[in-house]
Amino acid sequence: MDKFVIKGGRPLTGAIPISGSKNSALPALAAALLTSEPVILRRIPKVRDIRTMQRLLVDIGSKVDVGPDSVRIETTEVTSPEAPYELVKTMRASSLVLGPLAARAGRARVSLPGGCAIGARPIDQHIGGLEHLGAKIRQSHGYIEADASEGLFGAKIHFDRITVTGTEDLMMAATLASGETVLEHAAREPEVKDLADLLIKMGAKIEGAGTSTIRIEGVKQLGGADHTIIGDRIEAGTFLIAAAITGGDITVTECPVEHLDALILKLRQTGLAVTQPDGTTLRVQSNGPMRSVDMTTEEYPGFATDLQAQYMALMTQAEGIAIVTETIFENRFMHAQELARMGANIRLDGSRAIVAGPRDLTGAGVIASDLRASASLVLAALAARGETVIDRVYHIDRGYEKIEEKLALAGARIERVE
Ligand code: EPZ
Repeated sequence: MDKFVIKGGRPLTGAIPISGSKNSALPALAAALLTSEPVILRRIPKVRDIRTMQRLLVDIGSKVDVGPDSVRIETTEVTSPEAPYELVKTMRASSLVLGPLAARAGRARVSLPGGCAIGARPIDQHIGGLEHLGAKIRQSHGYIEADASEGLFGAKIHFDRITVTGTEDLMMAATLASGETVLEHAAREPEVKDLADLLIKMGAKIEGAGTSTIRIEGVKQLGGADHTIIGDRIEAGTFLIAAAITGGDITVTECPVEHLDALILKLRQTGLAVTQPDGTTLRVQSNGPMRSVDMTTEEYPGFATDLQAQYMALMTQAEGIAIVTETIFENRFMHAQELARMGANIRLDGSRAIVAGPRDLTGAGVIASDLRASASLVLAALAARGETVIDRVYHIDRGYEKIEEKLALAGARIERVE
């Protein structure tokens, strides 16, 4: 298993280009199942979760051609409408094929994802919504079996809980349902909007994506499309925090600046200089000692839970006490213990973490537990004096494209040890 060896204690300066969004690419790949015509997706990040989804599409019957900067998917026929446990257990986003398969093939068999490091993460909203659209659902042997052989029918669906992939899954299913579907209390994430833009290019009738009420008028069939994925706001946020935590100056390019308002506001409140040289470029410069600022994660447009761990690492270097409150996942503080091993002062109290700073971090051996927790350990290691060895970096490869090469562009001393 690969490890990262990081020599910290040096301000990072330089420019880093942002890749396409993992969390936009995953549903876009699943959406290709909705049509027998070719779908071309551009700016797909070369990360492990994407490869897992591509493998799943091939198992289902798609022809997937991966080019230097695009992926072409053609599903002339769904030969096996199934997402097996072996794949779903490695990537729960595999459940995104449930809606498209039920709509396109009239049936789907998808392994239940089970819990993960950050929480129980049930998919009851996906299943309940599909039942509202008329699918008959059975659960057996750890699988959800959806029977929609008589087709799907438009309905009003109110989500009990705002869910990103739940909104995406049911929006995809509703595109081929007869009649109108209304999704209420839907997720407003930019990735949901990007998926709707792709589906509309495929011929779907969708209004209101990006708001909490989405209307979908079902159509008989969808066509192909050529779509470029939005940039990855979480990757961009991670690199901007790398500048702040090392007392450096980083510019991120090809960045979806308009999707980062909540982070920009927080960084400015700490006293950092955040500037926008142009429409797709953002710069963070250290500006003397940072102030500790409380933060609470929320659904979009609030502060992203996928940046919580990175922000917690940053607050270990700020002056004062910062309370970090996690409201989306019930167990997303695994990184706190590892940061404490490096000298951070963090006290956990239920869904709140109380971070006292600034603390001198020193290099240590630490273990990554999930994708974003591992990113926060990389950031802390870059700020720490001495050498840090991060184990299980396979977690970070799930969602960051060549992170060590990108950080090296800003002067980071980070080595991957196979
Ligand atoms: C998406 O996960 C992202 N993944 C996550 O990013 C992100 O953390 C999350 O949204 C929140 O922003 C992808 O887009 C592939 P949810 P998702 O359904 O859709 C509960 C990363 O690091 N819930 O919005 O699975 C759930 O348990 C990943 O890139 C139900 O109770 O998250 C959670 O507490 C991690 N029942 C909350 O809602 C359901 O049916 C929000 O989850 C669905 C969700």
